[in-house]
Amino acid sequence: MSTAVTEPALALELRHISSGYAGTTVLRNIDLSVPAGSVTALVGPNGAGKSTLLKTVSGLIRPNAGSVRLGGVDVSMLAAHERAGLGLCHVPEGRGVFRSLTVRENLRLQAAPGNEAEASDRCIAAFPILGQRLDQTAGTLSGGQQQMLAMCRAYARSPRLVLVDEASLGLAPIIVDEIFTFLETIVTRGSSLLIVDQFVTRALDIASTAYLLDRGEIAFAGTSAELREGDVFQRYLGDR
Ligand SMILES: Nc1ncnc2c1ncn2[C@@H]1O[C@H](COP(=O)(O)OP(=O)(O)OP(=O)(O)O)[C@@H](O)[C@H]1O
Ligand SMILES: [Mg+2]
Repeated sequence: MSTAVTEPALALELRHISSGYAGTTVLRNIDLSVPAGSVTALVGPNGAGKSTLLKTVSGLIRPNAGSVRLGGVDVSMLAAHERAGLGLCHVPEGRGVFRSLTVRENLRLQAAPGNEAEASDRCIAAFPILGQRLDQTAGTLSGGQQQMLAMCRAYARSPRLVLVDEASLGLAPIIVDEIFTFLETIVTRGSSLLIVDQFVTRALDIASTAYLLDRGEIAFAGTSAELREGDVFQRYLGDR
């Protein structure tokens, strides 16, 4: 008899999610899954509800209806910090760094207690520029450097699921390349990813599964190749 523990096939599963803000429903009846060990891209026009969906997964917003399962565990009733404790990492839009702290202090805070040195070394190996800026306050880093530091959160604790919202926004193409290479690295290390990015084709290039969100509803679910080749891509996303 095998004693091997099998990993759940789905890193994330949303069922019939309805969610939004006080007085407004943004997402309606969302079913979405992220297969373990792979990248899922969430695309759609501005205002479609992509960031709202990520916030609903991480627990920053409570859904009005439906369930959120992480690695097979129903976390619908858990707070954001409890979901983080189960291996969820949300890298929000707009650079989630502590601006008044130094790079070194930010890296320390991102790591699990007792693992600070190893985690910092690993992040610096991924983004060497951060190693040259350890004593600089994060708020004075360039936009690209701040985004690298923010992305290190997804590396410091080897999370099971990483939600990445608009990592490449406003960055120079060469930095965008670094960020996408980094995303692939964290998948190689065993994390699953749900990514939203303005560079839709680049996101689809590294994704195996894709969802298109339009006005709060799923307009397409399938493989990223199917999305790229189908009419729906042109219709919603034009030449992106
Ligand atoms: N805090 C908030 N309170 C009220 N409404 C909000 C709030 N945040 C977002 N919304 C609304 O919810 C809808 C979806 O916004 P969301 O930010 O999820 O879209 P998005 O797909 O991420 O768009 P973008 O591509 O521009 O980032 C929009 O109509 C937006 O105005
Ligand atoms: Mg958004």
